[in-house]
Amino acid sequence: MWPYPKVVAHRGGGTLAPENTLAAMQCGFRHGFRAVEFDVMLSKDGIPVLMHDPLFGRTVRGESGVASTTAHDLLRMDAGSWFSNDFAGTLVPSYQQVLAFCLEHGIWMNVEIKPVPGFETETGRVVAQMTRQMQAGAQVLFSSFSFDALMSARESAPEIPRGYLTDQIQSDWQQRLQTLSAIALHTNHRHLTAGLTAQIKAAGYGVFCYTVNAPERAREIVGWGVDAFCTDRIDLISHDFIT
Ligand code: G3P
Ligand code: MG
Repeated sequence: MWPYPKVVAHRGGGTLAPENTLAAMQCGFRHGFRAVEFDVMLSKDGIPVLMHDPLFGRTVRGESGVASTTAHDLLRMDAGSWFSNDFAGTLVPSYQQVLAFCLEHGIWMNVEIKPVPGFETETGRVVAQMTRQMQAGAQVLFSSFSFDALMSARESAPEIPRGYLTDQIQSDWQQRLQTLSAIALHTNHRHLTAGLTAQIKAAGYGVFCYTVNAPERAREIVGWGVDAFCTDRIDLISHDFIT
């Protein structure tokens, strides 16, 4: 039913390293994690890079944003200093670099396609094409809050599985999963209930939760039948937490 890893390091290394960087992937790996979640969006010139926020200011310095900056410039930006001096000079990585790292180390990826608004279809297509080109499909599950991005990924690489992300589960969830040929619903554990979990599972879909940071809560939702979750607290919740 859920042939993928069950405990996933959120944004690479959770709270232990600057999110969405190679340093974060290395940190997760050092902690025994062989499964990561990270966020991907397109540069001005259509190159996929790891980034959570479309606008600069939180993890990288600057006034503008990802969609108005070329990959050449993005990949030279410091994405580590905001976190700590120890990570100063840690760069924004390209999706291709992270794919290569994860392939080399046998790390499974929940690739969250996070398009800048207006670039949904293009982002889904480019991310899907690059995943295929790198022959990484067997180690990837696409997820996105953007229905259009996932539809586009489906069109470009139907063989790579998809999970539909939603903060609060809406009444049309099953219709959406069917249209996407998705294998799972990904949702915020805060709004999930045991009853909803049972419904989704009974319909034949996996349930993935974000972002579960308390071991007790993780145990509770796993008891409901939740298949997998990502966590920021890779120091508290180990990769083999669910056996
Ligand atoms: O993929 C799960 C989770 O990462 C979604 O939320 O904002 O942390 O990307 P966010
Ligand atoms: Mg994410």
